Amino acid sequence: MELVTNSLKILNEEDKKDLDVARISEDEPLATNSTAKRKLYIESYGCQMNFADSEIVASILRENDFATTSKIEEAELILLNTCAIRENAEQKVRHRLQHLVPMKNKRKNVKIGILGCMAERLKTKLLEEEKIVDMVVGPDAYRDLPNLINEVEEGHKAVNVFLSREETYADITPIRLDSNGVTAFISIMRGCDNMCSFCVVPYTRGRERSRDANSIVKEATDLFNQGYKEVTLLGQNVDSYKWQSTDNSTVTFANLLEMVAQVSPDLRVRFSTSHPKDITDEVLYTMKKYDNICKYIHLPAQSGSSRILELMNRTYDREWYMGKIDRIREILGEECGISQDMIAGFCTETEEDHQDTLSLMDYVKYDYGYMFAYSERPNTPAAKKLTDDVPDDVKGRRLAEIIAKQREHSLERNQMSVGKIYKVLVEGFSKRSQEHLSGRNDQNKMIIFPRENFQKGDYVNVLVTECSSATLIGHIVE
Ligand code: SAH
Ligand code: SF4
Ligand code: F3S
Repeated sequence: MELVTNSLKILNEEDKKDLDVARISEDEPLATNSTAKRKLYIESYGCQMNFADSEIVASILRENDFATTSKIEEAELILLNTCAIRENAEQKVRHRLQHLVPMKNKRKNVKIGILGCMAERLKTKLLEEEKIVDMVVGPDAYRDLPNLINEVEEGHKAVNVFLSREETYADITPIRLDSNGVTAFISIMRGCDNMCSFCVVPYTRGRERSRDANSIVKEATDLFNQGYKEVTLLGQNVDSYKWQSTDNSTVTFANLLEMVAQVSPDLRVRFSTSHPKDITDEVLYTMKKYDNICKYIHLPAQSGSSRILELMNRTYDREWYMGKIDRIREILGEECGISQDMIAGFCTETEEDHQDTLSLMDYVKYDYGYMFAYSERPNTPAAKKLTDDVPDDVKGRRLAEIIAKQREHSLERNQMSVGKIYKVLVEGFSKRSQEHLSGRNDQNKMIIFPRENFQKGDYVNVLVTECSSATLIGHIVE
Protein backbone atom coordinates (compact mmCIF):
# COMPACT_ATOMS: atom_id res chain seq x y z
CA MET A 1 0.00 0.00 0.00
CA GLU A 2 1.32 3.36 -0.96
CA LEU A 3 1.82 5.83 1.86
CA VAL A 4 0.74 9.32 0.96
CA THR A 5 1.61 12.19 3.21
CA ASN A 6 -0.64 15.14 3.03
CA SER A 7 0.24 18.39 1.45
CA LEU A 8 -1.32 21.40 2.98
CA LYS A 9 1.07 24.23 3.65
CA ILE A 10 0.06 27.50 5.19
CA LEU A 11 2.01 30.38 3.82
CA ASN A 12 0.93 33.48 5.54
CA GLU A 13 3.70 34.93 7.63
CA GLU A 14 1.87 38.21 7.27
CA ASP A 15 -1.14 36.84 9.05
CA LYS A 16 0.07 35.41 12.34
CA LYS A 17 -3.55 34.85 13.19
CA ASP A 18 -3.97 32.25 10.53
CA LEU A 19 -0.79 30.50 11.52
CA ASP A 20 -1.94 30.48 15.11
CA VAL A 21 -5.29 29.07 14.38
CA ALA A 22 -4.22 26.65 11.69
CA ARG A 23 -1.28 25.38 13.75
CA ILE A 24 0.64 23.26 11.38
CA SER A 25 1.95 20.15 13.00
CA GLU A 26 4.06 17.37 11.61
CA ASP A 27 2.86 15.67 8.46
CA GLU A 28 0.60 12.84 9.23
CA PRO A 29 0.00 9.92 6.88
CA LEU A 30 -3.46 10.04 5.41
CA ALA A 31 -5.71 7.09 5.22
CA THR A 32 -4.32 6.09 1.88
CA ASN A 33 -6.10 5.94 -1.36
CA SER A 34 -4.20 3.04 -2.80
CA THR A 35 -5.76 3.32 -6.25
CA ALA A 36 -4.95 7.00 -6.65
CA LYS A 37 -2.42 7.49 -9.39
CA ARG A 38 -2.03 11.21 -9.64
CA LYS A 39 -0.36 13.52 -7.15
CA LEU A 40 -1.81 16.80 -5.98
CA TYR A 41 -0.01 19.50 -4.02
CA ILE A 42 -2.03 22.28 -2.33
CA GLU A 43 -0.74 25.42 -0.68
CA SER A 44 -3.18 27.56 1.29
CA TYR A 45 -2.96 31.26 2.03
CA GLY A 46 -5.26 33.47 4.09
CA CYS A 47 -7.85 32.64 6.71
CA GLN A 48 -9.03 29.43 8.33
CA MET A 49 -11.90 29.27 5.90
CA ASN A 50 -9.46 28.87 3.05
CA PHE A 51 -7.69 26.20 5.03
CA ALA A 52 -10.99 24.40 5.50
CA ASP A 53 -11.78 24.77 1.79
CA SER A 54 -8.50 23.12 0.83
CA GLU A 55 -9.63 20.10 2.83
CA ILE A 56 -12.83 20.04 0.79
CA VAL A 57 -10.86 20.35 -2.44
CA ALA A 58 -8.62 17.43 -1.41
CA SER A 59 -11.75 15.39 -0.73
CA ILE A 60 -13.36 16.21 -4.09
CA LEU A 61 -10.16 15.37 -5.93
CA ARG A 62 -9.55 12.17 -4.03
CA GLU A 63 -12.76 10.91 -5.61
CA ASN A 64 -11.11 11.73 -8.91
CA ASP A 65 -7.93 9.77 -8.63
CA PHE A 66 -5.75 12.37 -6.94
CA ALA A 67 -3.79 11.78 -3.75
CA THR A 68 -2.15 14.66 -1.93
CA THR A 69 1.60 14.99 -1.57
CA SER A 70 3.82 17.29 0.45
CA LYS A 71 6.51 17.16 -2.26
CA ILE A 72 5.81 19.76 -4.89
CA GLU A 73 8.38 18.19 -7.24
CA GLU A 74 6.37 14.99 -7.56
CA ALA A 75 3.01 16.70 -8.08
CA GLU A 76 1.19 16.62 -11.38
CA LEU A 77 -1.26 19.26 -10.21
CA ILE A 78 -0.29 22.28 -8.09
CA LEU A 79 -3.08 24.31 -6.51
CA LEU A 80 -2.62 27.60 -4.69
CA ASN A 81 -5.65 28.48 -2.55
CA THR A 82 -5.30 32.23 -2.38
CA CYS A 83 -6.30 35.25 -0.29
CA ALA A 84 -7.13 38.77 -1.48
CA ILE A 85 -7.73 40.54 1.82
CA ARG A 86 -4.75 42.89 1.52
CA GLU A 87 -2.46 43.87 -1.32
CA ASN A 88 0.49 41.99 0.17
CA ALA A 89 -1.55 38.77 0.40
CA GLU A 90 -1.86 38.89 -3.39
CA GLN A 91 1.79 39.89 -3.85
CA LYS A 92 2.85 36.79 -1.99
CA VAL A 93 0.98 34.58 -4.45
CA ARG A 94 2.44 36.41 -7.43
CA HIS A 95 5.96 35.87 -6.06
CA ARG A 96 5.20 32.24 -5.49
CA LEU A 97 4.09 31.90 -9.10
CA GLN A 98 7.35 33.50 -10.27
CA HIS A 99 9.22 30.88 -8.28
CA LEU A 100 7.31 28.13 -10.03
CA VAL A 101 8.25 29.28 -13.56
CA PRO A 102 11.53 27.29 -13.86
CA MET A 103 9.78 24.13 -12.66
CA LYS A 104 6.94 24.60 -15.11
CA ASN A 105 9.46 25.10 -17.92
CA LYS A 106 11.21 21.86 -17.00
CA ARG A 107 8.09 19.78 -16.42
CA LYS A 108 5.63 20.81 -19.10
CA ASN A 109 2.96 18.37 -17.91
CA VAL A 110 2.61 20.10 -14.52
CA LYS A 111 -0.66 22.01 -14.28
CA ILE A 112 -1.10 25.02 -12.02
CA GLY A 113 -4.45 26.16 -10.65
CA ILE A 114 -5.33 29.26 -8.64
CA LEU A 115 -8.21 28.76 -6.23
CA GLY A 116 -9.87 30.98 -3.64
CA CYS A 117 -10.39 34.69 -3.20
CA MET A 118 -7.73 36.02 -5.57
CA ALA A 119 -9.10 33.74 -8.29
CA GLU A 120 -12.58 35.13 -7.68
CA ARG A 121 -11.42 38.73 -7.60
CA LEU A 122 -9.26 38.68 -10.70
CA LYS A 123 -11.05 36.02 -12.78
CA THR A 124 -9.69 35.66 -16.35
CA LYS A 125 -7.33 38.59 -15.76
CA LEU A 126 -5.18 36.18 -13.76
CA LEU A 127 -4.69 34.02 -16.85
CA GLU A 128 -3.61 37.04 -18.84
CA GLU A 129 -1.28 38.37 -16.16
CA GLU A 130 0.25 35.11 -14.98
CA LYS A 131 1.08 32.99 -17.99
CA ILE A 132 1.95 29.85 -16.07
CA VAL A 133 -1.54 29.57 -14.62
CA ASP A 134 -3.72 26.94 -16.32
CA MET A 135 -6.85 27.16 -14.24
CA VAL A 136 -8.74 29.78 -12.18
CA VAL A 137 -11.39 28.49 -9.78
CA GLY A 138 -13.51 30.53 -7.37
CA PRO A 139 -14.56 29.36 -3.88
CA ASP A 140 -18.00 28.14 -4.93
CA ALA A 141 -16.83 26.15 -7.97
CA TYR A 142 -14.78 23.37 -6.40
CA ARG A 143 -17.21 20.63 -7.39
CA ASP A 144 -16.39 21.52 -10.98
CA LEU A 145 -12.65 20.89 -10.47
CA PRO A 146 -12.64 17.43 -12.13
CA ASN A 147 -14.18 18.90 -15.32
CA LEU A 148 -11.88 21.89 -15.26
CA ILE A 149 -8.85 19.63 -14.87
CA ASN A 150 -10.03 17.61 -17.89
CA GLU A 151 -10.29 20.78 -19.93
CA VAL A 152 -6.77 21.74 -18.93
CA GLU A 153 -5.50 18.30 -19.84
CA GLU A 154 -7.02 18.71 -23.25
CA GLY A 155 -4.81 21.74 -23.68
CA HIS A 156 -7.22 24.56 -22.79
CA LYS A 157 -7.15 27.11 -20.03
CA ALA A 158 -10.09 26.66 -17.65
CA VAL A 159 -12.05 29.14 -15.53
CA ASN A 160 -15.04 28.82 -13.21
CA VAL A 161 -15.69 31.76 -10.91
CA PHE A 162 -19.43 31.35 -10.60
CA LEU A 163 -20.63 32.38 -7.12
CA SER A 164 -23.53 30.41 -5.71
CA ARG A 165 -26.31 31.34 -3.32
CA GLU A 166 -26.65 27.76 -2.11
CA GLU A 167 -23.32 25.97 -2.16
CA THR A 168 -22.11 24.97 1.32
CA TYR A 169 -20.34 21.68 0.46
CA ALA A 170 -22.42 20.27 3.32
CA ASP A 171 -22.27 16.69 2.03
CA ILE A 172 -18.50 16.62 1.50
CA THR A 173 -16.38 15.14 4.24
CA PRO A 174 -13.16 17.17 4.32
CA ILE A 175 -9.87 15.32 4.26
CA ARG A 176 -8.02 16.62 7.31
CA LEU A 177 -4.72 17.95 6.06
CA ASP A 178 -1.71 18.52 8.32
CA SER A 179 -3.94 17.78 11.24
CA ASN A 180 -2.70 17.30 14.79
CA GLY A 181 -5.55 14.78 15.19
CA VAL A 182 -6.90 16.76 18.16
CA THR A 183 -8.35 20.02 16.84
CA ALA A 184 -10.32 20.62 13.62
CA PHE A 185 -12.23 23.36 11.85
CA ILE A 186 -15.81 23.03 10.68
CA SER A 187 -17.23 25.55 8.20
CA ILE A 188 -20.76 26.40 9.23
CA MET A 189 -21.50 29.06 6.64
CA ARG A 190 -20.04 30.74 3.59
CA GLY A 191 -19.92 34.26 2.19
CA CYS A 192 -20.76 37.51 3.91
CA ASP A 193 -23.69 39.92 3.59
CA ASN A 194 -22.09 42.73 5.54
CA MET A 195 -20.65 45.51 3.56
CA CYS A 196 -17.73 46.75 5.61
CA SER A 197 -16.44 49.38 3.23
CA PHE A 198 -12.78 48.24 3.35
CA CYS A 199 -13.45 44.57 2.77
CA VAL A 200 -13.14 42.44 -0.34
CA VAL A 201 -14.72 39.30 1.14
CA PRO A 202 -18.35 39.94 0.07
CA TYR A 203 -17.05 40.12 -3.52
CA THR A 204 -14.78 37.09 -3.33
CA ARG A 205 -17.01 34.80 -1.30
CA GLY A 206 -20.45 35.92 -2.34
CA ARG A 207 -23.70 35.97 -0.41
CA GLU A 208 -23.99 34.63 3.09
CA ARG A 209 -25.51 31.16 3.39
CA SER A 210 -25.71 28.78 6.33
CA ARG A 211 -24.96 25.10 6.17
CA ASP A 212 -27.43 22.37 7.20
CA ALA A 213 -27.17 22.15 11.02
CA ASN A 214 -27.51 18.35 10.97
CA SER A 215 -24.50 18.00 8.69
CA ILE A 216 -22.49 20.20 11.06
CA VAL A 217 -23.43 18.11 14.10
CA LYS A 218 -22.67 14.93 12.16
CA GLU A 219 -19.24 16.25 11.19
CA ALA A 220 -18.50 17.16 14.83
CA THR A 221 -19.69 13.72 15.99
CA ASP A 222 -17.58 11.92 13.39
CA LEU A 223 -14.54 13.96 14.40
CA PHE A 224 -15.09 13.14 18.07
CA ASN A 225 -15.44 9.45 17.24
CA GLN A 226 -12.13 9.64 15.40
CA GLY A 227 -10.42 11.00 18.52
CA TYR A 228 -10.65 14.75 17.93
CA LYS A 229 -11.23 16.77 21.10
CA GLU A 230 -11.90 20.28 19.82
CA VAL A 231 -13.81 21.81 16.93
CA THR A 232 -13.83 25.44 15.82
CA LEU A 233 -16.98 26.53 14.01
CA LEU A 234 -16.03 28.87 11.21
CA GLY A 235 -17.75 31.70 9.39
CA GLN A 236 -17.10 35.35 8.55
CA ASN A 237 -19.91 36.27 10.90
CA VAL A 238 -20.98 33.17 12.84
CA ASP A 239 -23.57 35.03 14.89
CA SER A 240 -25.75 35.52 11.85
CA TYR A 241 -25.92 31.76 11.24
CA LYS A 242 -29.51 30.83 10.49
CA TRP A 243 -30.81 27.57 9.09
CA GLN A 244 -34.35 26.45 8.40
CA SER A 245 -34.88 22.80 9.27
CA THR A 246 -37.37 20.58 7.41
CA ASP A 247 -40.00 21.00 10.16
CA ASN A 248 -39.66 24.73 9.52
CA SER A 249 -38.03 25.60 12.82
CA THR A 250 -35.11 27.99 12.68
CA VAL A 251 -31.71 27.05 14.06
CA THR A 252 -29.84 30.14 15.27
CA PHE A 253 -26.16 30.29 16.10
CA ALA A 254 -26.95 29.88 19.81
CA ASN A 255 -29.02 26.77 18.99
CA LEU A 256 -26.24 25.37 16.81
CA LEU A 257 -23.64 26.01 19.49
CA GLU A 258 -25.76 24.08 21.95
CA MET A 259 -26.27 21.19 19.50
CA VAL A 260 -22.51 20.88 18.92
CA ALA A 261 -21.74 21.25 22.65
CA GLN A 262 -24.04 18.30 23.31
CA VAL A 263 -22.03 15.97 21.08
CA SER A 264 -19.85 15.20 24.13
CA PRO A 265 -18.68 17.08 27.24
CA ASP A 266 -15.16 16.00 26.15
CA LEU A 267 -15.43 17.83 22.85
CA ARG A 268 -14.41 21.46 23.18
CA VAL A 269 -16.21 23.95 21.01
CA ARG A 270 -14.77 27.23 19.73
CA PHE A 271 -16.02 29.61 17.07
CA SER A 272 -14.81 32.49 14.94
CA THR A 273 -15.53 35.25 13.87
CA SER A 274 -18.14 37.16 15.86
CA HIS A 275 -19.39 40.47 14.51
CA PRO A 276 -20.08 42.82 17.45
CA LYS A 277 -23.42 43.82 15.97
CA ASP A 278 -24.73 40.24 15.87
CA ILE A 279 -23.44 38.46 18.98
CA THR A 280 -26.48 38.04 21.24
CA ASP A 281 -27.03 37.51 24.95
CA GLU A 282 -28.47 34.16 23.99
CA VAL A 283 -25.06 33.16 22.57
CA LEU A 284 -23.31 34.42 25.72
CA TYR A 285 -25.70 32.49 27.98
CA THR A 286 -25.23 29.35 25.90
CA MET A 287 -21.48 29.74 26.34
CA LYS A 288 -21.97 30.06 30.07
CA LYS A 289 -24.24 27.03 30.26
CA TYR A 290 -21.76 24.58 28.73
CA ASP A 291 -18.33 23.98 30.27
CA ASN A 292 -17.07 22.65 26.96
CA ILE A 293 -17.85 25.84 25.02
CA CYS A 294 -14.62 27.78 25.37
CA LYS A 295 -14.81 31.16 27.05
CA TYR A 296 -13.11 33.07 24.32
CA ILE A 297 -14.52 35.54 21.82
CA HIS A 298 -12.80 37.05 18.81
CA LEU A 299 -14.62 40.36 18.50
CA PRO A 300 -12.98 42.57 15.86
CA ALA A 301 -13.48 46.27 16.54
CA GLN A 302 -11.50 47.59 13.51
CA SER A 303 -11.35 51.08 15.08
CA GLY A 304 -12.14 52.86 18.32
CA SER A 305 -13.44 55.99 16.61
CA SER A 306 -17.18 56.26 15.99
CA ARG A 307 -16.57 58.49 12.99
CA ILE A 308 -14.26 55.92 11.37
CA LEU A 309 -16.58 53.04 12.27
CA GLU A 310 -19.34 54.84 10.42
CA LEU A 311 -17.14 55.26 7.34
CA MET A 312 -16.24 51.60 7.61
CA ASN A 313 -19.95 50.76 7.68
CA ARG A 314 -19.48 48.53 10.70
CA THR A 315 -23.00 49.53 11.93
CA TYR A 316 -21.96 50.03 15.57
CA ASP A 317 -20.18 52.88 17.28
CA ARG A 318 -17.60 53.03 20.03
CA GLU A 319 -20.13 53.17 22.88
CA TRP A 320 -22.15 50.29 21.49
CA TYR A 321 -19.01 48.17 21.18
CA MET A 322 -18.01 49.01 24.75
CA GLY A 323 -21.50 48.02 25.88
CA LYS A 324 -21.01 44.64 24.20
CA ILE A 325 -17.73 44.17 26.05
CA ASP A 326 -19.45 45.03 29.34
CA ARG A 327 -22.15 42.47 28.59
CA ILE A 328 -19.56 39.75 27.87
CA ARG A 329 -17.79 40.51 31.14
CA GLU A 330 -21.10 40.59 33.05
CA ILE A 331 -22.27 37.23 31.74
CA LEU A 332 -18.99 35.36 31.32
CA GLY A 333 -16.76 37.11 33.84
CA GLU A 334 -13.45 38.96 33.68
CA GLU A 335 -11.55 35.85 32.63
CA CYS A 336 -13.33 35.39 29.32
CA GLY A 337 -10.70 35.78 26.60
CA ILE A 338 -11.37 38.57 24.11
CA SER A 339 -9.31 39.37 21.02
CA GLN A 340 -9.49 42.05 18.37
CA ASP A 341 -8.75 42.94 14.77
CA MET A 342 -7.77 46.58 14.18
CA ILE A 343 -7.06 48.52 11.04
CA ALA A 344 -4.60 51.43 11.28
CA GLY A 345 -4.82 54.36 8.91
CA PHE A 346 -8.23 53.90 7.32
CA CYS A 347 -9.35 56.71 4.96
CA THR A 348 -9.41 60.15 6.65
CA GLU A 349 -8.22 58.75 10.01
CA THR A 350 -6.88 61.62 12.13
CA GLU A 351 -4.55 61.49 15.10
CA GLU A 352 -7.60 61.90 17.32
CA ASP A 353 -9.33 58.90 15.71
CA HIS A 354 -6.16 56.90 16.27
CA GLN A 355 -6.10 57.94 19.94
CA ASP A 356 -9.69 56.69 20.17
CA THR A 357 -8.50 53.28 18.98
CA LEU A 358 -5.76 53.23 21.62
CA SER A 359 -8.17 54.31 24.36
CA LEU A 360 -10.71 51.67 23.32
CA MET A 361 -7.93 49.12 23.70
CA ASP A 362 -7.20 50.49 27.17
CA TYR A 363 -10.87 50.08 28.04
CA VAL A 364 -11.14 46.48 26.84
CA LYS A 365 -7.62 45.16 27.59
CA TYR A 366 -7.73 42.51 24.89
CA ASP A 367 -5.93 39.24 25.44
CA TYR A 368 -4.47 39.55 21.98
CA GLY A 369 -5.09 41.01 18.59
CA TYR A 370 -4.42 40.98 14.88
CA MET A 371 -3.51 44.36 13.56
CA PHE A 372 -3.16 45.62 10.03
CA ALA A 373 -2.33 48.76 8.08
CA TYR A 374 -5.23 49.68 5.82
CA SER A 375 -4.76 48.35 2.31
CA GLU A 376 -7.16 49.67 -0.29
CA ARG A 377 -8.88 46.91 -2.27
CA PRO A 378 -10.11 47.71 -5.76
CA ASN A 379 -13.88 48.09 -6.22
CA THR A 380 -14.75 48.00 -2.52
CA PRO A 381 -17.05 50.80 -1.29
CA ALA A 382 -14.09 52.53 0.38
CA ALA A 383 -12.05 52.43 -2.83
CA LYS A 384 -14.98 53.89 -4.76
CA LYS A 385 -16.11 56.59 -2.33
CA LEU A 386 -13.22 57.48 -0.04
CA THR A 387 -9.60 58.49 -0.48
CA ASP A 388 -6.81 56.36 0.91
CA ASP A 389 -5.18 59.51 2.25
CA VAL A 390 -3.18 58.45 5.30
CA PRO A 391 0.50 58.34 4.24
CA ASP A 392 2.23 54.97 4.56
CA ASP A 393 4.68 56.18 7.19
CA VAL A 394 1.81 57.46 9.35
CA LYS A 395 -0.09 54.18 8.92
CA GLY A 396 3.09 52.34 9.89
CA ARG A 397 3.67 54.43 12.99
CA ARG A 398 0.06 54.12 14.15
CA LEU A 399 0.13 50.40 13.54
CA ALA A 400 3.33 50.09 15.60
CA GLU A 401 1.65 51.99 18.46
CA ILE A 402 -1.39 49.72 18.32
CA ILE A 403 0.84 46.63 18.34
CA ALA A 404 2.90 47.95 21.26
CA LYS A 405 -0.26 48.68 23.21
CA GLN A 406 -1.56 45.18 22.51
CA ARG A 407 1.69 43.65 23.69
CA GLU A 408 1.38 45.48 27.02
CA HIS A 409 -2.18 44.31 27.45
CA SER A 410 -1.39 40.72 26.45
CA LEU A 411 1.34 40.64 29.08
CA GLU A 412 -0.95 42.18 31.69
CA ARG A 413 -3.74 39.69 30.93
CA ASN A 414 -1.29 36.77 30.94
CA GLN A 415 0.10 37.88 34.29
CA MET A 416 -3.43 37.55 35.69
CA SER A 417 -3.19 33.83 34.87
CA VAL A 418 -0.03 33.23 36.88
CA GLY A 419 -0.80 31.21 40.02
CA LYS A 420 -4.01 29.78 38.53
CA ILE A 421 -4.83 26.26 37.42
CA TYR A 422 -6.33 25.66 33.98
CA LYS A 423 -7.71 22.68 32.15
CA VAL A 424 -5.57 22.33 29.04
CA LEU A 425 -6.13 20.20 25.96
CA VAL A 426 -2.74 18.86 24.87
CA GLU A 427 -2.19 19.59 21.18
CA GLY A 428 1.37 18.31 20.78
CA PHE A 429 4.97 18.93 21.67
CA SER A 430 6.07 22.49 22.31
CA LYS A 431 7.94 24.02 19.37
CA ARG A 432 11.24 24.04 21.22
CA SER A 433 11.42 20.69 22.93
CA GLN A 434 10.04 17.17 22.86
CA GLU A 435 10.23 17.20 26.65
CA HIS A 436 7.48 19.81 26.79
CA LEU A 437 3.89 19.73 25.66
CA SER A 438 1.72 22.61 24.57
CA GLY A 439 -1.98 23.19 24.52
CA ARG A 440 -4.56 25.88 25.12
CA ASN A 441 -6.79 26.69 28.00
CA ASP A 442 -10.43 27.66 27.71
CA GLN A 443 -9.50 31.30 27.06
CA ASN A 444 -7.38 30.26 24.06
CA LYS A 445 -4.06 30.95 25.76
CA MET A 446 -1.17 28.70 24.80
CA ILE A 447 0.45 27.00 27.80
CA ILE A 448 3.74 25.06 27.81
CA PHE A 449 4.60 22.48 30.46
CA PRO A 450 6.85 19.41 31.04
CA ARG A 451 5.27 16.42 29.38
CA GLU A 452 5.48 13.80 32.14
CA ASN A 453 3.50 10.82 30.85
CA PHE A 454 0.90 12.71 28.91
CA GLN A 455 0.31 13.01 25.20
CA LYS A 456 -1.70 14.93 22.67
CA GLY A 457 -5.44 14.61 23.03
CA ASP A 458 -5.24 14.38 26.85
CA TYR A 459 -6.88 16.93 29.12
CA VAL A 460 -4.57 18.00 31.95
CA ASN A 461 -4.70 20.55 34.76
CA VAL A 462 -1.80 22.97 34.58
CA LEU A 463 -0.66 25.43 37.22
CA VAL A 464 0.71 28.53 35.51
CA THR A 465 3.95 29.70 37.10
CA GLU A 466 5.30 32.30 34.65
CA CYS A 467 4.45 34.04 31.40
CA SER A 468 5.51 36.22 28.51
CA SER A 469 3.17 38.36 26.43
CA ALA A 470 2.72 35.38 24.08
CA THR A 471 2.78 32.24 26.24
CA LEU A 472 2.06 30.84 29.66
CA ILE A 473 4.45 28.37 31.29
CA GLY A 474 3.57 25.93 34.03
CA HIS A 475 3.41 22.33 35.21
CA ILE A 476 0.78 19.64 35.51
CA VAL A 477 -0.99 19.26 38.84
CA GLU A 478 -3.50 16.64 39.95
N1 SAH B 1 -15.30 38.65 9.05
C1 SAH B 1 -14.32 39.12 9.90
C2 SAH B 1 -13.06 39.59 9.24
C3 SAH B 1 -12.48 38.89 8.08
S1 SAH B 1 -11.06 39.63 7.36
C4 SAH B 1 -14.89 40.29 10.66
O1 SAH B 1 -15.84 40.90 10.26
O2 SAH B 1 -14.33 40.64 11.64
C5 SAH B 1 -9.91 39.65 8.71
C6 SAH B 1 -9.44 41.00 9.09
O3 SAH B 1 -8.67 41.58 8.06
C7 SAH B 1 -10.51 42.03 9.34
O4 SAH B 1 -11.10 41.89 10.59
C8 SAH B 1 -9.79 43.33 9.17
O5 SAH B 1 -9.22 43.75 10.38
C9 SAH B 1 -8.68 42.98 8.20
N2 SAH B 1 -8.93 43.60 6.89
C10 SAH B 1 -9.95 43.36 6.04
N3 SAH B 1 -9.85 44.14 4.95
C11 SAH B 1 -8.74 44.89 5.11
C12 SAH B 1 -8.09 45.91 4.34
N4 SAH B 1 -8.61 46.32 3.19
N5 SAH B 1 -6.96 46.46 4.81
C13 SAH B 1 -6.44 46.05 6.00
N6 SAH B 1 -7.00 45.11 6.77
C14 SAH B 1 -8.14 44.52 6.35
FE1 SF4 C 1 -15.46 41.65 5.61
FE2 SF4 C 1 -17.11 42.90 7.24
FE3 SF4 C 1 -17.85 40.60 6.14
FE4 SF4 C 1 -15.96 40.64 8.01
S1 SF4 C 1 -18.10 41.20 8.30
S2 SF4 C 1 -15.90 39.52 6.07
S3 SF4 C 1 -14.90 42.53 7.60
S4 SF4 C 1 -17.48 42.51 5.08
FE1 F3S D 1 -8.50 36.05 2.52
FE2 F3S D 1 -10.64 35.17 1.35
FE3 F3S D 1 -10.16 34.52 3.85
S1 F3S D 1 -9.80 37.19 1.14
S2 F3S D 1 -9.05 36.27 4.60
S3 F3S D 1 -8.96 33.94 2.11
S4 F3S D 1 -12.14 34.87 2.94
